[in-house]
Amino acid sequence: MGKLSRRNMLKAGGALGALGALGVASPAQAHSLWTWSPQGSVAGAGAGLDPRWVWDEEADSLVASVIDRGEVPRVNELLRTWTKNGQPLPAGLPADLRDFMERARQLPSWTDQRKLATVVEFNQKRGLYLGLLYGLASGMMSTVIPKEALAVYYSQGGADMKDRISKTAKLGYDIMSQTAYQPDGEMIVTCVKTRLVHAAVRHLLPQSPYWSEVAEEEIPISQRDMMVTWHSLPTTVMQKLTTWKVPIPAAESAAFLHSWQLCAHMLGIKDEYIPASWTEANTQAGQVLNPVLAPTAEGIKLADILLNLGSSVDGAILSKPVLGAFTRFMLGDEIAAWLKIPREPVWDPLLKVSWKPFIAVREGLLPFPLAPEAYWLFDEFLRKAALLFLSEARPISIEIPDSNRPS
Ligand code: HEM
Repeated sequence: MGKLSRRNMLKAGGALGALGALGVASPAQAHSLWTWSPQGSVAGAGAGLDPRWVWDEEADSLVASVIDRGEVPRVNELLRTWTKNGQPLPAGLPADLRDFMERARQLPSWTDQRKLATVVEFNQKRGLYLGLLYGLASGMMSTVIPKEALAVYYSQGGADMKDRISKTAKLGYDIMSQTAYQPDGEMIVTCVKTRLVHAAVRHLLPQSPYWSEVAEEEIPISQRDMMVTWHSLPTTVMQKLTTWKVPIPAAESAAFLHSWQLCAHMLGIKDEYIPASWTEANTQAGQVLNPVLAPTAEGIKLADILLNLGSSVDGAILSKPVLGAFTRFMLGDEIAAWLKIPREPVWDPLLKVSWKPFIAVREGLLPFPLAPEAYWLFDEFLRKAALLFLSEARPISIEIPDSNRPS
């Protein structure tokens, strides 16, 4: 009944699409009116429609037809050989898909190669923090973004989460690589393949009886959902680095944003929804990310899988309790409670008291540690966690799904 009424509420407001587009709030979405102005975007202008009702028309209809034509296995086989940005597309792809991919792989006119050179320095200097933050802050946050948790859980990849985490970690790894968007890098390939995967999910998930029962929306992964997830990545990471007082020169901060703006564009997000500055990003995140965070049964299961990742690698320093304590420290008590993460009598207070001084020492802002043991412990943790999350991105191919999770 509960589930039914949730879906029905949206259906009843099918007209909502139109109302939403006109900026009229329904009771169900009153908390999340879209008022963010396209003037703050990389495009600098736009229609200002609520991206909740915008998907990826071109990719969506094309991939739906590739699936319906039964061409997914052959396309995946061909695309396994396409790994480098500068590499020609493999021969033998369906003509309509090839045409689309040729267009989709082009970087936008606003690509700034100087910023891309600067971000290499930033990623090198900050790689350890970034590995930890992508894995624990962004990764764990994704489990309390209900629409994402449900989509991930009930899609084909949800049945093998370890494999899925590797594929997702590949994007974090590729964007941090020295050559990310250069011809010998892999980020463009990863983004274009992911764009196809998302289009496939939009076609497939509505056919899943499990997802349809719990989901609010008729079609998953709207452009608004995409921006929500985007904010769980660079916006959240930059907010944490700022809170920890990690010194970041303005040029590096702008370069880091740029590498993620390009990622958004290459994933098919329209330029009018991509924030042009961190101020705009923080404003948009306050509107779309913070209000949607909530627990779901599926998200709790996904979080548990993430928290168990470390145990097999190094039972001691990356054990589940330590990763749990770190999640609580970064995302707060409320989210920790949603995810049923127990309190840790040693690690919780230690992180609260010593993490910021540890960063200050690491950054040369404080003289060498008052508490050397905590310093070395944290440093080891940082290295192991970065290694763990980034090493998940073992050579792996992102593939278009042609079915949902079986049960
Ligand atoms: C697949 C990244 C937004 C749901 C993927 C993959 C990557 C990725 C790298 C390929 C890995 C794989 O096949 O498992 C991103 C990024 C996003 C974003 C960077 C935003 C900036 C979203 C959103 C949703 C979502 C908003 C749902 C609301 C999924 C699902 C899959 C997927 C269901 C496919 C899993 C399968 O193969 O069954 N995404 N994603 N993603 N993503 Fe996203």
